[in-house]
Amino acid sequence: MSSAPTHITIEQNTEILKRYAFLEKVCMRTLSGWLPGVPEWEAKNEIGLHLWESADSADKLYQRLRELRSYQPERNLSERLLRLARALDRAQNSAELIAGVYLVVKKQLLEAYRSHPEVTWSDFDRPTVKVTEMVLPALERQVAWAEQFFPEVAARYPGWEAWRDYVAGLLAADGGVTGMETPRAEPPEPAEHPLLLPWKKCQRMKGWLVFDPSVDVEPDRKAEPEAHRLWRFKHYLNEMTAAETLGSILWMTPEMPWEYQNNVARHCWDEIRHSQLGMVRIQQLGLKVEDVPQVVQIYDVMMTLPAVDQYALLTTVIEPNGMPEKAANREHWEEIEDDISAAAVSYDWSDENFHIRWGKKWTPVLLETYGYKETPAEIAARTEAWLMENTPVRMQQKMAIAAHQADSAPSGDAQSY
Ligand SMILES: [Fe+2]
Ligand SMILES: [Fe+2]
Repeated sequence: MSSAPTHITIEQNTEILKRYAFLEKVCMRTLSGWLPGVPEWEAKNEIGLHLWESADSADKLYQRLRELRSYQPERNLSERLLRLARALDRAQNSAELIAGVYLVVKKQLLEAYRSHPEVTWSDFDRPTVKVTEMVLPALERQVAWAEQFFPEVAARYPGWEAWRDYVAGLLAADGGVTGMETPRAEPPEPAEHPLLLPWKKCQRMKGWLVFDPSVDVEPDRKAEPEAHRLWRFKHYLNEMTAAETLGSILWMTPEMPWEYQNNVARHCWDEIRHSQLGMVRIQQLGLKVEDVPQVVQIYDVMMTLPAVDQYALLTTVIEPNGMPEKAANREHWEEIEDDISAAAVSYDWSDENFHIRWGKKWTPVLLETYGYKETPAEIAARTEAWLMENTPVRMQQKMAIAAHQADSAPSGDAQSY
């Protein structure tokens, strides 16, 4: 067995794994905060997946750290690394965001994961090698996506190079991803980089159509099945705004436990997937994404509420209220032998069960963490009353009314969840 000096000790290994986990979490966090701020539709969809993959990778690394008896993985991280984390949030546009997160941090993480098996005592540290093997494919795919997509945003937002160099310089000043390289001098901070998070309004490309509530008429399911189906999947496509809401919620609640952050990251990606099932279906039915007016208003009006109110409203009011309609749609689409629509809604329904379960679990913790005096039932009632006044989406009001009628009906059907 070689005793080459390239091999690190178990203590050094633990410190490096702490930095990997931290950087994965930082990527999750910055991408979450920026999800509403990126106007490019393709990037929004990819970022929604990648923020979940970053959370998942961080979670796997935390697990290995616990095996190595490191229970406080953010303890004693260097001040410079924390500064890098805050700097990533201060990108000014999609190009600076993707350059900093993907072309600097993720790319260097990828190289570190690839070489980790040669750096650690692999024969004795197989579980760590296994973790790096598990997290590598997602990171490889993410970096490859960023590299092929980047020219489009690079051309749109000139001047991004200075920010990329600054982020790369901060990492180099802290000894690189592993912290083991010789630190370079700290780079000067570029001017004019205010924090733009959290985004008060969600961004779309110029010229994209905006939803008009006055013409949003729900066709009758039985009488006009085709019009109803198209209407319904246009609304699915607009679940992008639910993902964007969760992105901002996650960014605004860093004091919450890791398990919550991991769940919200997954919840966020699920809503991206619901938007994608809408996208797939409207395309199959002959429309393009750009043909569907975007319900940006719901994100924008939700952002007038604090994060805790938004989370309680989404998971303890909007999502439970939406369940009976999903069950009815599945039944209807199975009846008319529209297998594709039935399959789509059945996966949506399945995901929503977890969203509601997470809402029940985390709303009380949020209320306590942020000093609310309300009970979960009180905040649900208050935010639902607010929704009835403020939502631009009539479907949400209709679902709320139906849910209360079902509650008060003497022999009303049991809720489908
Ligand atoms: Fe959804
Ligand atoms: Fe959901």
